[in-house]
Amino acid sequence: MTNTLFPSPPSAADWRESAFDLMRGVAAYSGSPLMSGLAAVLGKHPEADLGNAFNHKQVGSKMWARDALHETLGRSLGKIVLLGGWYGILAAILFDDSSFDIDHIASYDIDPAVGSVAETLNQAWADRFSALTADMYALDYAALGADLVINTSCEHIADLSAWLALLPRGVRVMLQSNDYFSEPTHINCVPNLDAFAAQAKLSRLDFFRQPEDEEIHPVHADRVGLINRGRRGSQPCARRHPGRGRDPAGCGRRVQP
Ligand SMILES: C[S@@+](CC[C@H](N)C(=O)[O-])C[C@H]1O[C@@H](n2cnc3c(N)ncnc32)[C@H](O)[C@@H]1O
Repeated sequence: MTNTLFPSPPSAADWRESAFDLMRGVAAYSGSPLMSGLAAVLGKHPEADLGNAFNHKQVGSKMWARDALHETLGRSLGKIVLLGGWYGILAAILFDDSSFDIDHIASYDIDPAVGSVAETLNQAWADRFSALTADMYALDYAALGADLVINTSCEHIADLSAWLALLPRGVRVMLQSNDYFSEPTHINCVPNLDAFAAQAKLSRLDFFRQPEDEEIHPVHADRVGLINRGRRGSQPCARRHPGRGRDPAGCGRRVQP
């Protein structure tokens, strides 16, 4: 009888080869450009930490962000500037969703190693995607002219309000952070949604929630996110929704996305 198992524990190279083969099969079967992009990353960038970037929690937080964007802003997202874009997974998830119209996504990251991975992942939308190396504190946001600025790496930057102060007044912003304090690269986690709002000091909140799907996001990986159309101002949420915390249609807390 043919032995269909590895004769001995597979080496790391064998695992990579198998993952590449598997992903190409998934891509062929599903016909998904995103799955093809993932297969291409496995083939071209074996050094990329894809298992971490595309684990179920990371994907869950990006799907949550996608749904929040759709619920709040609808179909037309225009030109998006994405900060701390890493391997471009949120960009790929947004492009892959036919319920959005997206003109362009520019993904900026301070790490020069991630841009080529992001471009490979987003190869199906290469005409509308670019990955650039830059410190988000050093960009000229007025010149970039984004319709929407997304930063899902707020836990990775030292001073969120100093960064927000660089944005043109009135630009739409989506922010996401978490309370995963034990991860050493997380230098600016928040314990809860109120702390996040206090840190961001946005002038208006259109969406302000913390998911509670504990199965995917255990206690230490909760994410908090918010979307707004302005920046600066005091008492960000209470201004529009004095009953915050009891208003699921507005700034509800612990409301299922
Ligand atoms: C681990 S990743 C993404 C985490 C985030 N929770 C997510 O899934 O989108 C954080 C990224 O932020 C980037 N980053 C950190 N500081 C930055 C800065 N000042 N400007 C641009 N990118 C930065 C890092 O290089 C890294 O790729």
